[in-house]
Amino acid sequence: MTCVRELLKATLLPRLEAQMLLQQVLNVSRSWLVAHDTDLLDESCVARFRALELRRQAGEPMAYLVGVREFMGHDFQVGPGVLIPRPDTEVLVETAVACIRLLAAEQTRQQGAVNMVRQQPSVRVLDLGTGSGAIAVSVALACPQACVTATDASLQALEVARTNARNLGAAVTFHAGSWYDALPPGTDLFDLIVSNPPYIRADDPHLTQGDLRFEPVGALTDGHDGLTALKAIIGGANAWLKPGGALWLEHGWDQAAAVREQLVKAGFNRVESLTDLAGIERISGGYL
Ligand SMILES: C[S@@+](CC[C@H](N)C(=O)[O-])C[C@H]1O[C@@H](n2cnc3c(N)ncnc32)[C@H](O)[C@@H]1O
Repeated sequence: MTCVRELLKATLLPRLEAQMLLQQVLNVSRSWLVAHDTDLLDESCVARFRALELRRQAGEPMAYLVGVREFMGHDFQVGPGVLIPRPDTEVLVETAVACIRLLAAEQTRQQGAVNMVRQQPSVRVLDLGTGSGAIAVSVALACPQACVTATDASLQALEVARTNARNLGAAVTFHAGSWYDALPPGTDLFDLIVSNPPYIRADDPHLTQGDLRFEPVGALTDGHDGLTALKAIIGGANAWLKPGGALWLEHGWDQAAAVREQLVKAGFNRVESLTDLAGIERISGGYL
């Protein structure tokens, strides 16, 4: 029989990854593993660890093997069929949260100005292509004054997003379908639309490298020049935003100028791009 320490010593994987996989097999915390490193493992546990180890050696993302990825401080369930949330996308969530707080303050100010009975502000937010629900759920948890709707064309992704919303206690309404077509008739206009759509060019060699090989292709690329989904979302936003409403989009490192151009063409004002921690323009947005 093998003990925890021997198993971790024998693996070719980086120690942290091996620990995470063994934690997954044994359903224990990291501190438990450290404290029980001489515990003997039964054969079925060793076999399950070896199976995960092989999949990792073949390049499968850790997030799919352990079934979870942390985003904005929350644990999101993920699995094949849904994009693994990226730290890059936190810029979009932080911008959305700041935007919602400003819009809520403006609603409160307007209610005061016309001497209306003070109501709880309600900022209507739409997340298009929600995937695991990372953006919609994080926004809903950070902004109780937001009323969040999220859509995706992938039923598999929507199932994961619904599970995440339920597990994390976020109130989000989900609809299936392509971009705005998913919204049922009679849906009210939104104050803010956000999206991290598929924006990788179909011929980008990164699609056949690393984690991307295992993620759903429809979540990564539009199958063309990378701008099709961004253009569709910008083109349709006017019909779904209230006057003064905002649209913020994540895009590729070299797409900011093209996205700003589309936003201006669609009638948006105060169009700007914001950078990520590496100083790269990763999101662009504007206001009607
Ligand atoms: C880059 S992923 C973003 C997932 C998630 N919002 C995130 O940031 O982690 C793009 C998402 O858009 C969805 N999608 C692709 N084409 C779509 C379409 N025509 N209508 C709605 N959603 C679409 C994909 O299924 C995928 O979940």
